[in-house]
Amino acid sequence: FFSSRRRHTRSLCDWSSDVCSSDLKGIRLCGSGAAVPRLRVSNDDLSARVETSDEWIRTRTGIAARRVADETESLTSLAAAAGQQALQNAGWDASSIDLILLATSSPDDLFGSAPKVQALIGAGSAVAFDLTAACSGFLFSLVTAAQYLRTGAMTRALVIGADQLSRWVDWDDRRSCVLFGDGAGAVAIEACPAENDGLLGFRLNSDGARGDCLTLAQTSERAELLPGMSHQRGGYAPIGMNGQEVYKFAVREVPAILKQLLADTNTEAASIDWLLLHQANQRILDAAAERLGIAADKVLSNLANYGNTSAATIPLMLHEAVSDGRIQSGQLIASSGFGAGLSWGAALLRWDGPTS
Ligand code: UT7
Repeated sequence: FFSSRRRHTRSLCDWSSDVCSSDLKGIRLCGSGAAVPRLRVSNDDLSARVETSDEWIRTRTGIAARRVADETESLTSLAAAAGQQALQNAGWDASSIDLILLATSSPDDLFGSAPKVQALIGAGSAVAFDLTAACSGFLFSLVTAAQYLRTGAMTRALVIGADQLSRWVDWDDRRSCVLFGDGAGAVAIEACPAENDGLLGFRLNSDGARGDCLTLAQTSERAELLPGMSHQRGGYAPIGMNGQEVYKFAVREVPAILKQLLADTNTEAASIDWLLLHQANQRILDAAAERLGIAADKVLSNLANYGNTSAATIPLMLHEAVSDGRIQSGQLIASSGFGAGLSWGAALLRWDGPTS
């Protein structure tokens, strides 16, 4: 890692002959990628397992189907595929990246899945680690990666949001199982001159006191270690959720944090090109847009196809809208992630990658 840092610090002056590393305080969002499992599970499919209906799920959430990883796929393989595509779209060689941040709450390995992703991608110079902040994980990771770039410590980073919550959903609990799906998305970012900065502002929040309404909690099963000594055997309970509480939290906090961010950055809501929110429920997206005074046709949504893919929703949606030409280079994107923790955050972004 340190040798790569020295190498890239030298190459920073490639920007122009009179710009050197200390001037590179900006962040460019240069490339996006995504990957989803093959298996598509429709609302009708689910209604064969729990008492629900396509009509109920569509009306209450906007979801029509979700993707579920089968035994040939994994969190690591999805994350690596998304990351590789982001590198390709940025036109970068994997060996040029310094950092891989993997936002996930469902790693293949509790010690962290990012190093496996690093190996699969072939990014031998990158330090790679996981960051857990549930559905806010991608935004938290993007902001975290940006700090390494802004200080000049690193030059290029790959930020991946990926989750395989199908492992942890109680598929017999109709109140939660209809919401979630698996997927991965990634964004390649690099240091750039401050005047080209694509991370124009951010805010991050946590409130553990309200965290009980959305959990994927450890099960503390007592097991004997030695006669007279016990330990806690590891394991996790399925996702527990008080849907109404999470819903109220989201429709209150998301517009509030975005309003604060727009005020911080002196940005008019009318100048936002796209509202890119964590894809949890269409009603949450609509309520947030209405409270912010942002027109419905600026609200990005792919809930119908993928449901809530947790840390993956924002980069998955971003990649889709970049690929189909909706998001154009130079456009302003107001983004917000929210979820378990409780955690929520917002960032004002400018896309600077290739567009279709
Ligand atoms: O990343 C964050 C993850 N979590 C979330 O985003 C959750 C946010 N919350 C929500 O999206 C909504 O609260 C839900 C979609 C989960 C539920 O919608 P709701 O409008 O808040 O429904 P509800 O919980 O008030 O339930 C209304 C009725 C209940 O029946 P009764 O008590 O009125 O007879 C539920 O039992 O709907 C019933 N119900 C269902 N019926 C058919 C709950 N889930 C289902 C279902 N199919 N899947």
